[in-house]
Amino acid sequence: MRFSGKTIVVTGAASGIGAETARLFAREGGVVFAADIDAEGGDRLVAEGAGDIRFVSTDVCSTEAIEALMDRAAGETGGIDVVFNNAGAGGAREKIHEIEPEAWDRTMDLLVRSVAFGIRYAVPHMKDRPGAAIVNTASVAATGSGYSPTAYAVAKAAVLHLTKVAAADLAQFGIRVNAILPGFINTNIFTSSLDLPDKTKSIAKAMIAQASANAQPVKRGGQPRDIAEACAFLASEAAGFVNGTGLLVDGGLTIGQRPSWDPEAPSALGMLAALEEQAKASAG
Ligand code: NAI
Repeated sequence: MRFSGKTIVVTGAASGIGAETARLFAREGGVVFAADIDAEGGDRLVAEGAGDIRFVSTDVCSTEAIEALMDRAAGETGGIDVVFNNAGAGGAREKIHEIEPEAWDRTMDLLVRSVAFGIRYAVPHMKDRPGAAIVNTASVAATGSGYSPTAYAVAKAAVLHLTKVAAADLAQFGIRVNAILPGFINTNIFTSSLDLPDKTKSIAKAMIAQASANAQPVKRGGQPRDIAEACAFLASEAAGFVNGTGLLVDGGLTIGQRPSWDPEAPSALGMLAALEEQAKASAG
């Protein structure tokens, strides 16, 4: 019961990573304010009865809505101990030479501005509360190209940097700020923005589940629970000396090129070894 008596705000809590993290915090004694634009998903989460979870309909693109969320959580409980700024979606899919200004702004608003103001409006309620902690969801996409669309990658790199700078700003109030960089995690994020009939969506989901099981050195797909556990650690006293950092939770997806960990993957070194073998065989 690491979070008994704590007030916790989780955004993007109606689905995937946010929902699983809200459940974990609630099971461990926290009062969880679960925020999302998806009211049906939020109501379903509350109905599961995992603990004291209170759904707050919130669009994180609205700073007024974020402020109201934080005020409500503090108003009902006396303050805020933990915030998980997690809501998100894939954002604009165009490459940099094709993206339109509005699409760029929408992606940045959803993925970066929401985190900045999630911090901004929570802090007045978190100052000097023992163990106060903020966790932001970045992504492996913050580390380089090839993991996501361009705008998303830029936004998540900004979240990582915001995390560091915010940790410096908020040190005076005893608030730690950290980020998680999830790898390939099995959630709705890959299909929710696709305009597909339900049947095709379930096929796409199954394909993604299969791809995610083979994408990294750990031989299984990443699950929301993997990120929930990391978030609970970063928000807990056990991480009391962890601050301003980004924790990769990616099964090793970013450790290096595939041939370095997958003996089946074709590689230049493998080709050279095979040529050497051939040459030895024909000489002998
Ligand atoms: P998900 O699609 O299962 O959950 C995202 C939630 O955010 C949904 O409930 C959605 O309704 C909510 N949301 C979207 N826009 C919102 C808005 N304007 N206001 C309030 N809520 C909003 O996806 P998942 O995977 O759980 O995503 C959570 C976070 O994890 C996101 O920030 C995402 O970028 C990040 N992430 C996910 C990865 C993955 O492989 N699933 C990898 C790296 C990062």
